[in-house]
Amino acid sequence: MFHSAGRDRRAHRTTTLPDAPALAVLQGVSKTFGSGDTAVHALARFDLTITAGELLVVLGPSGSGKTTLLNVVGGIEAPTTGSISIAGRALTGLDAKGMSALRREALSFVYQFFNLVPTLTAYENIAVLAELTGGSVRTRVDEVLGEVGLAECADRFPAQLSGGQQQRVAIARALVNRPRLLLCDEPTGALDLDTGRSVLGLLQGLCHRDDRAVVLVTHNQAIAAIADRVLRMRSGHIVDDMHQRTPLAASEVCW
Ligand SMILES: Nc1ncnc2c1ncn2[C@@H]1O[C@H](COP(=O)(O)OP(=O)(O)OP(=O)(O)O)[C@@H](O)[C@H]1O
Ligand SMILES: [Mg+2]
Repeated sequence: MFHSAGRDRRAHRTTTLPDAPALAVLQGVSKTFGSGDTAVHALARFDLTITAGELLVVLGPSGSGKTTLLNVVGGIEAPTTGSISIAGRALTGLDAKGMSALRREALSFVYQFFNLVPTLTAYENIAVLAELTGGSVRTRVDEVLGEVGLAECADRFPAQLSGGQQQRVAIARALVNRPRLLLCDEPTGALDLDTGRSVLGLLQGLCHRDDRAVVLVTHNQAIAAIADRVLRMRSGHIVDDMHQRTPLAASEVCW
C-alpha cells in the first residue's frame, strides 16, 4: 500500500538519462535447472537492458526467477542459453579468472540477511574486500562507512549493531569496489518498516552516483513505488516492464 499523501511529495528527479550507458545487456537468456520431466525453467528467453542511473525493482511471486536473474547477471550462475554483457564486456564465455575479475571490478551483491562475518568488526568486514581492490584500505573503508552514515560504528561487531545498521555495513562492503551494478536480493526483507525505508533511501541515492545502476529484487509490491523502472516477473518471464517518471522518495513508502 502506498502512502496516501505520497503523490504530493513525490521525489522529483529525472529518471534514466536518454544517453545513459548500458550496464547490463541480456539477450535471449534462459536458465533451466535439471532436465527432462523434472526440468525447471527459472528464466525463459530474457531480453533486458539495464542502464546507468536506474533503480530497477524486480517484482514477482516466490519461484518466479528473481534470484536466478540476479545470479546470472552477477556471474554466479551461467545461463543455459543467451548472452550477457556487463559494462560492455561479455560475461558469457569468460573463464573463472576472467569472471572473478569482472565481478571484482563491476558487480556487487547485497543479501537479505547481510552475510557479515560475526567475529569481525564492521571495519574488518569491509577491509577484507578492500584489500582486493588496491589503494589504501583504511581510506577506502572510511569512505564507504561514511557513505552509509556509519563512520562511528567501525569498531562494533555485527551483534552490536541493529539490523538496519548491519545492512548498511553490508551495503558499504558492497560499495568498496565501486561497482557499476549493485544487485540486491530482498535487502529489506529482514527489516522493519522504518529501518527498511532508510535502507531503501540509501539504495535510491546510490543509483544516481558514479554511473551505477541498482537492481532491487523483492516480492513486496509497495517497494516498486520508489523505482525508476519496475520489472514484473512470472514463471521465468517478464510480464511487465514499466518506467516511472516520478518515483516516490523511500521515506514515503508504506507496507
Ligand atoms: N539450484 C537450483 N536447482 C534447481 N532448481 C532451482 C535452483 N535454483 C532455483 N531453482 C528453481 O528455479 C525457480 C526460480 O527460483 P528463484 O530462486 O529464482 O525464485 P525467486 O523468484 O527468487 O523466489 P523467492 O521470492 O522465493 O526468493 C524455482 O522454481 C526454483 O525452485
Ligand atoms: Mg529469491
